[in-house]
This record gives sequence, structure tokens and C-alpha cells, in this order.
Amino acid sequence: MSFFNHTKNALVLAAACFVLQACSGTTASDTVSNTTASPSEIEVAGILAYTQAQVNKSLAEIPAYDSIPRNISPGQKQWNYVTINDWTSGFWPGILWYSYESSGDEQIKEKAIAFTEALKPILVQNKWDHDLGFMYYCSYGNGYRITKNPAYKEVLLAAADSLVTLYNPKVGTILSWPGMVEKMNWPHNTIADNMMNLELLFWAAKNGRKDCYDMAVSHAEVTMKNQIRPDNSMYHVAVYDDKGGQFIKGVTHQGYADNSMWARGQSWGIYGFTMCYRETGKEEFLETAQHLADKFIERLPADMVPYWDYDAPNIPDEPKDASAAAITASALLELSTMGDNQELQDKYRTTAERIIASLSSDRYLSKDQNNAFLLHSTGHWPNKSELDVPIVYSDYYFIEALMRLKRLNAGEKVATL
Ligand code: GLY
Repeated sequence: MSFFNHTKNALVLAAACFVLQACSGTTASDTVSNTTASPSEIEVAGILAYTQAQVNKSLAEIPAYDSIPRNISPGQKQWNYVTINDWTSGFWPGILWYSYESSGDEQIKEKAIAFTEALKPILVQNKWDHDLGFMYYCSYGNGYRITKNPAYKEVLLAAADSLVTLYNPKVGTILSWPGMVEKMNWPHNTIADNMMNLELLFWAAKNGRKDCYDMAVSHAEVTMKNQIRPDNSMYHVAVYDDKGGQFIKGVTHQGYADNSMWARGQSWGIYGFTMCYRETGKEEFLETAQHLADKFIERLPADMVPYWDYDAPNIPDEPKDASAAAITASALLELSTMGDNQELQDKYRTTAERIIASLSSDRYLSKDQNNAFLLHSTGHWPNKSELDVPIVYSDYYFIEALMRLKRLNAGEKVATL
């Protein structure tokens, strides 16, 4: 059997006992054994049951709807909270929507609504940065997908209207970080992460804001041209002349070096170009997503979870970034349904399953240690912040990947947003 063959309905995992217990109605802490693990087959439902138990533990602790989980410090069980203005504020409501979708638990739905609607005031402020896409699409986007509440549609359109004010027609991309223009002397800057937030624009284009489509396509095309290096790794930041539109240089902000492959930046690119192909059907975006994915996979360590930067100097003594693994797993599941190259499709599906399996092992699950789903993410190594800790967006893309796998196993479309 070739390496790329996969079993459709099961993951090969090193935590079989965990799932059997989760499925039999035990508590989250019971579900986790210290099994060392001979590989066994595991059902996605069991891991989803674990995520729901962790969500309930978090919900029991969160003091208010404007206290949003962001990360967990070493040795601590509970989340550190941020306000609604933090760039990560949409992920927690998004987790709740996925958790409701997975479980049908009406109490979680009520919480999803409350945490989503707590974010509405963000838009009162004038101009944000590209993160508006993360903040609103993960929260209101999932909420609208599931409830079709027309008020959510209005909020999403207002968020898109705000996001496109950052579009520079000379460059053809969105200005990702207005705050960095003077601070870093980056007159127009566009970051790999920004690829994710084109999804809000594609959604808006289908819901009455037709010109958002051209802006999103242009952004992806210009990014494809300038921000991907000949070896198919991505610059974190592309700096452009804001008046003439010329590409000036590629640099990093959160990676190890300007020319290194920052793991999460590569993940945002894989996910973003995959989504752009879904929304446009343009072959160039599919090929780009495949090239970025191939690069990410080719250099993965044996446990399928990258170090925070592929070129960090002290591998294997560098922190891992489980968030990059989770984002990529989710993206690869969608990429595995695209194009007509069966060998590539199988490779992406198998790799996604192996990443999910690794993240679902004793090494990566938080279990009783704290209330998150996953351990071992790295937020901002150059700033020495969030090193090797649970981070909320890691959990968001992990539960999204599980839901996508569940849909794939059921023969349904992988992406529903
Ligand atoms: N979008 C910011 C980050 O990935 O850390």
C-alpha cells in the first residue's frame, strides 16, 4: 500500500484509550489516559467530545462576555483573557459555534451568541487593520452560517466595508498594518496572514458588495507575485511603495529572519490560496496553494508539527507551533478535494490526518493540564511572547479541522462558509 493511501473513516492515532473513554460519556479528565500508544484507529467524534468537555471547563471559568480567552501561561489551568479589541477576539466565539455545531448543545449556542454579539462595538472605531477579517469572520461568519440571523449579515457587511478602506489600488493589496507604516517605515505593508481575511471580502461580494471580489483577487495575485520566494516559502511581510505600487522588499516580523520560513506564515498562505481557489476557480491559486503546501510538508519533522520557524537556529531545541499544524491540517483537508491530481489529493488528505492524529496524542492535548484543547503553540518568538503555550487560534483551527474531517468522512463538502 502506498504511503498516500488513507482510510476514509478513521485516523491512525496514538491515543485509542482516550477516545474509547470519551465516547463512553466520561468526563474530560477521565478521557485522557497516559497511554503510550500503539497506533490504533480513532473516531473523530471522540476527539470532538474531548473539545466539548474542554469548552465547558472554560465556560465555567470565564468571568464576562468581554473577557476573551487568548492563551494559558505555563503552570496555569485557566485562560488569560483579552478585550474584544484584541486581534484574536473572534476565535473564541468561533470555537463555540463549531462546538455547538458538533454537539447540538443549546447552552453552548447561547454562549456562542453572547460572545459573538459582544464583539459588535469593535466596528464603532474608525479604521482597523486586516485583523477585522479574523475578528468578524470567525465569530459572526460562523454565526451567520449556522443561524442565518440577518443582523449578523449586516455586521459582516459593515466589517467588509471597513476592511476595504485599507485597499490601495496602486499596489493592489490591502494595507495589513497601518500602525507599522511610520513605526517600521513600511509605506504599504501586506502580510501573509492577510490572505485569510480575503474570505470576508469574497463573502461580501456574494452578498451585495460586488467590488470586493476584484479587490480580493488582486490582493491574492499581487501577493502571489511578490511574496512567494522561488523555493515556495513565503515572506511574512511584503513592503510596497504606497504611491507607485512597486514591491520594495520582503521581510519578517514574527519569523526568525527575513528569508526564513516562519511556520504560521506559511500556513496562512496555504489556507489563504486554497480558499482563493475555492472562491474563484483560478488555477494559479490552486497551484500556489499546492506549492506552498508541498514546501510545508517536505520539511515537517517526524511528529508532523513544525517548529515555530523552519529555519530557527536551534532545532530540535526550538519551541513547536501547534497552531501552524492545526491551520495547515484544516487547509489540507480542503485542498485534498481540489483539482484532478489524485496522487496530490491523497497526499494532502493523508498528511492532514497524520497532523490531526499527532495533535490528538498525549504529547499535544492539554487534557487535565489546562482548559485549552492543545499545548505547544508559539505566538511571537522575536518578542519572546507566547512561547510554547496553548493559544486560542490553535484550538479554533483544530476544531475546524475536526469538523472538516467529519464532513469529508460523511461525503459532504468540506468548507461551508
Ligand atoms: N496573525 C498574527 C499571527 O499569526 O500571529
